[in-house]
Parts: sequence; C-alpha cells; structure tokens
Amino acid sequence: MSRRLTNLLLLPFLVSAFVTGWMAFATGTGWVRLPLIIHAISGLVIVVLIPWKSVIVRRGLARNRGQASTSSMLMLMVGIAILSGLLFSVAGIRSYGPLTAMQVHVGAGVLSLPLAVAHVWQRPVRPTRVDVERRNLLRIGGVLGVSGISYLALTGGTRLFRLPGHERRATGSYARGSGNPSAMPVTSWLDDSTPRIDPSEWRLVASHADDVTTYQLEDLAVFTDEVTAILDCTGGWFSEQTWGGVWLNRLVDIGNGSSVLVTSATGYRRRFPIGDSDRLLLATTLGGEPLSPGHGFPVRLVAPGRRGFWWVKWVQSIEIDDRPWWWQSPFPLT
Ligand code: HEM
Repeated sequence: MSRRLTNLLLLPFLVSAFVTGWMAFATGTGWVRLPLIIHAISGLVIVVLIPWKSVIVRRGLARNRGQASTSSMLMLMVGIAILSGLLFSVAGIRSYGPLTAMQVHVGAGVLSLPLAVAHVWQRPVRPTRVDVERRNLLRIGGVLGVSGISYLALTGGTRLFRLPGHERRATGSYARGSGNPSAMPVTSWLDDSTPRIDPSEWRLVASHADDVTTYQLEDLAVFTDEVTAILDCTGGWFSEQTWGGVWLNRLVDIGNGSSVLVTSATGYRRRFPIGDSDRLLLATTLGGEPLSPGHGFPVRLVAPGRRGFWWVKWVQSIEIDDRPWWWQSPFPLT
C-alpha cells in the first residue's frame, strides 16, 4: 500500500464513520443495522491501515514540520473513537467515570472531523486517475475485504464467547431496567434539565389553527390508553416499559394538518408526521404510577420506534400545522 493511497483512503472512511454514526442515531430502531455495519467496517478500515499510516507518521514526525499538534490531536481523537467504540460493542464498557461511553465515543468522533479537515488542508493530497488504476482498486478491495472479515470475526466472536456485547440490540444499546421503572436511567438530550412543575398550574395546550383546547392534569386522568414500548436512548441503553395516558389524536382534531409539533416546558421540541399521531402517546403514568420528575412529570411523549430524543418530556403544548415534519434540525441543537 503506497503512502499516497493510504492517505487518500483514510479521509473518506473517517467521514463514512462519522456520517453513518449519525445515521444510526437518526434512523430510529427500524433499519438501523445497515448504517451500523457500514460504521463498524469504516472504523475497522482505519485500524487495518494503521501499519502503513504509522510509517507515514514516523517520517512526518522526524521531519517535524511544525504541524504535529493538529495531526497528534487527530490521531488521539480517532484512536479514542475507535477504542471506545470497540470496547462498548464487544466488551460492554459503558462508562468512563462520569461520562458514558457514547459521550466519549461521539465526542471524540465529532472533534476528529474538524481536525481531519485542518490536517488535509495542511497536507493536501489530490486524487488522480492513477489512484483508480486496477492495481490500486485491488488494494482497496483487499483493505475492505480484511475489514469486512474482521467485522464478521468480531461480531461472531462476541456471540460465540458470549462477551457482554452479545446482549446489544440492533442499535447497539444495552438493556437497563426493563419492566422496572425505578431502574430506568434518567437522561436528557444535551443541556435539557428537569424543570419544577406545579401540577395544579400545569396546562396542556392542544391547537390546530384557531381551534385551541386547554387540558388540566385531571382532564387527562380519565383516559386509559396504554402502550408497551422500548425507549432506546442514544446514550447506549434501552428500556422496555408500559406507559399509560392518551393517544395524541384524541386530544386535538388533526384535520388535514401535515405535522404535529410537541413542545416541552423547557422549550425542547420535536415535530412529527401527522400520520404518527395515533401512535404517539401522551403518557401520564409509567408502570401504573405517575411519572417521576426526571421521566417527564406530569406528561411525556412516548414515540414507539423512535430514539429517545424524540420522546419529549414535560410536554406543555401540541400544535398541528401545515409545515412538513422534516422542517427541523435532524438532531435538537439544545
Ligand atoms: C468519526 C469517528 C468514528 C469512528 C472511527 C467510529 C468507530 C466505531 C467503531 C470501530 C465502533 C465499534 C463497532 C462494532 O464493533 O460493531 C463504533 C461503535 C459505535 N459508534 Fe462509532 N465511530 C465514530 C463516530 C461515531 C459517531 C459520530 C456516532 C454517533 C453520532 C457513533 C455511533 C456509534 C454507535 C451507536 C456505536 C455502537 C454500535 C454497536 O454497538 O453496534 N460513532 N464506532
């Protein structure tokens, strides 16, 4: 493998790992397996290229071009991302002190991208036609083949030797407290924190254009809708629980609206396709008991099949309108 080809291959596979990681977070729990297989293989391509890249690194350091700090940080971040990913998926290592393994893994992955851009900016390698000659395509195929076989060996070995990783769901998440609400972790997306809500003052405003209905907590207590669903958190855990409350479409006339916007008392919000409104539960109970503040008291959204960041807590309004559901950032920014 030439130095040139090694450098040319590393960037697209780093970008592929980055993109497929986010795709896995975005695709809910349906066809999440495919992006995660590509994700793992992309990470393993980087590992397979280490012997060639380390020669380049040694030479670069010997020449000491004064740009070593960006390169070293990049190596460190990519190294942390790969190691924490493998330790999570194979050995079941889910935390490092106060940080979850996913916080470390995704944090290192996110930091590695601007570093990679700076690195390539400092040392550009322009692809030419020679790079796609038969000989080089065979080499690329070889690297992909070895990475694919390594992936099969890792997943097969994890199952065969019943390593902790064999207990993961397709999303990569591990079970936490299923059927036992008090053992279900309390987590929030980024900086959202538990608000103090006085149940006697709390109101739910359900609106569709000029049609506005306001509910108090006791108005919702008469509904007995129920669903057993898996909350699969991007933090690397999942929990199956039974939630009680009311289907969203029973509180507001969905008419010919396009989407429903669900907003929390904290300002956190997510927009859903209108077709989901009969599968979205506004939950007031978890395991037959009122929700705890951390789990969204007095009302939280239960969005079966979607990752945890869609399950808006401390809901205070639901609005039907004509905007398309995808008219929002794919991931909440706060
Ligand atoms: C860009 C640098 C990244 C690299 C090199 C990388 C590499 C890896 C590797 C090698 C694994 C172990 C895969 C396995 O053994 O099945 C892994 C797991 C994982 N990564 Fe990344 N990753 C990166 C960034 C990200 C990002 C940005 C996200 C999410 C936004 C992410 C989400 C995940 C998840 C959910 C798993 C667990 C998958 C499972 O257990 O099946 N990764 N990563």
